[in-house]
Parts: sequence; C-alpha cells; structure tokens
Amino acid sequence: MRFAGKVAVVTGAGQGMGRAIAIRLAQEGATIVAVDVNEANAKETLDLAGLSGNTSDGIARVCNIADSALVKALFEEVEGRYRRLDVLVNNAGIGSAKNDGFDKLLARMNERGEQMARGEKPTVYPDLICDMADEGWRGVMQVNLDGTFFCTREAVRVMIKHGIKGSLVNISSTAAISGEGALHYAASKAALSGMTRSLARELAPRGIRVNNVMPGPVNTPIMANVSQAWIDSMIAGIPLGRMAEPSDIAAVVAFLASDDAAMVTGSDLVANGGSYFK
Ligand SMILES: NC(=O)c1ccc[n+]([C@@H]2O[C@H](COP(=O)([O-])OP(=O)(O)OC[C@H]3O[C@@H](n4cnc5c(N)ncnc54)[C@H](O)[C@@H]3O)[C@@H](O)[C@H]2O)c1
Repeated sequence: MRFAGKVAVVTGAGQGMGRAIAIRLAQEGATIVAVDVNEANAKETLDLAGLSGNTSDGIARVCNIADSALVKALFEEVEGRYRRLDVLVNNAGIGSAKNDGFDKLLARMNERGEQMARGEKPTVYPDLICDMADEGWRGVMQVNLDGTFFCTREAVRVMIKHGIKGSLVNISSTAAISGEGALHYAASKAALSGMTRSLARELAPRGIRVNNVMPGPVNTPIMANVSQAWIDSMIAGIPLGRMAEPSDIAAVVAFLASDDAAMVTGSDLVANGGSYFK
C-alpha cells in the first residue's frame, strides 16, 4: 500500500497503459483521478479498479490535455476536492494526427514492399516528412508535449501550494532513442527527456521528483491495428522475447512514483525487454 492516503492523476487512463497504471496505483491504495478524452472509458477504469468514483476513492474526468484552459480547470477541481496531489502520470499520448501524411506513407511502404518482394530495386521511398503538414506535426506535439507541459505545470502548482514532495512520471517511448517511430512522435517523446531532466533539477529543492519511462512495444489496443507479421518482427528484436504487457509498465511507474524511488529523479527508465539501451 505504497500510495495509501495519496492522490494520483493519470492521463489517458481510459485504456491501455494508462488504465493499467491507474489500476496498479489504486491497488496500492491511491485515490485515482482518471483523465481521458473518453469519459465512459475513464469511468470503466475506475470500475475495473474496484473504485466507486464518488470522490472518496477517485473520480473520472473528461479532459483534452492539449487544451490549457481545460487542464487548469481539471487541476483546480482536484485541488478543491482533495487539497493535495501526490502523483501525476503523464501517460496520454498519440502516434498520429490529422494531415501528418501517414496515409500516404503506408501506401508507399506497401508499394515499396511489393517491389522488393518482386526482387526489384525499390523506386518508392518513405519520405514522410515531405507530406507532413504543419497541422500534422503540431497535432502530435499538442498532445504529447504541450499536454504534458500543461498537466505538469498545474500539478506542480498544487504540490507546491500544499507543500507536497510529489512524484511526476512521464511516459515517453523507446522510439525517442531508436528512431523507430515517425519524426513528430519521436521528437515529441525525446523532448520529454529534456523536460524531465530540467524539471528534476528545478524541483529537487522542493523534494518533487520527475522521471521518464521509455517503453518499447506494449500490448495495448493500439496493437489491434498492427499486422501479426509486424508484431512478429517487433518481438524478434526484443531479447526478452515478448512485448510488454501494460501491467509491466504499470509496475515500473508505481516504483518511480513511490518512495522506493526516493533517490531517483531525472532518469529515463528504459522498459523494452532489451531492444535498445540508453
Ligand atoms: N503501446 C505502445 O507500444 C507504446 C510504446 C511506447 C510508448 N507508448 C506511449 O504510452 C502511452 C499510452 O499508450 P497506449 O498504447 O496505452 O495508448 P492508447 O491509445 O491505447 O491509450 C491512450 C489513451 O489516451 C487517451 N488520450 C489520447 N489523447 C488524449 C488527450 N488529448 N487528452 C486526454 N486523453 C487522451 C486516449 O483516449 C486513450 O484512452 C502513450 O503516450 C504512448 O505514446 C506506447
């Protein structure tokens, strides 16, 4: 019960890793604020965690973390209800956004694959950057980077106001170090390392810790759209021989968020089965 009496906000808690993190923290005694753009899913997470969601043990809230005003209102509500905040997990993130050229990339990659399968020298190239409109680039940055900043700023304001030596955990990605991810996604996730280190130094005098988790492939609903051949090739590159389950990452987050990690701040914790080292 490492989080008994503590309040944790988890963004993107409606499914996948965020859901597993919320459930894990609840199992260890935390009051959970489950945040997602999908309210029904966030509520379902509280149900699955065995929480009533009626303030005493948690609440589910709909909030687009890319909207600064909505985030501010969310944390004001948290502060008003609980008068404390101990843990923020910045988990919500997206891999693609409108007008980022992904549709054209997939078509070209298919054509390139067919050319290579026929034994031809490929004449079609990925060239994602050429088709990435400003809107596509910004769309991913707005959620993964701006959203993390907005939530972190409001959480830190609450922690400072109540003198809480809290813990902030960001969810980055191995794509930030392997480059195996689209440029906007990899850039947004790599930026979290810089933000983590800077804030770790800035907030250390307050006793607030900041860490960053870099998962490799995780078996979340995102994977439902990925072909078995692609999944097999990803697993072939993982020395531990399997994709992570959301609960594997939740255990890492719970460690970093807890007092067990009292001397850990500013770290990038790579949780990818050994596929890439940092
Ligand atoms: N699944 C993987 O293989 C993998 C690997 C490395 C890193 N990650 C990162 O881990 C995090 C969780 O991934 P996942 O696979 O569980 O994703 P997911 O898509 O299954 O779940 C993400 C959740 O975030 C919510 N969300 C999206 N945009 C939001 C917004 N603007 N405001 C509030 N909520 C929003 C979604 O509704 C969804 O419930 C993401 O940051 C992702 O980039 C995932």
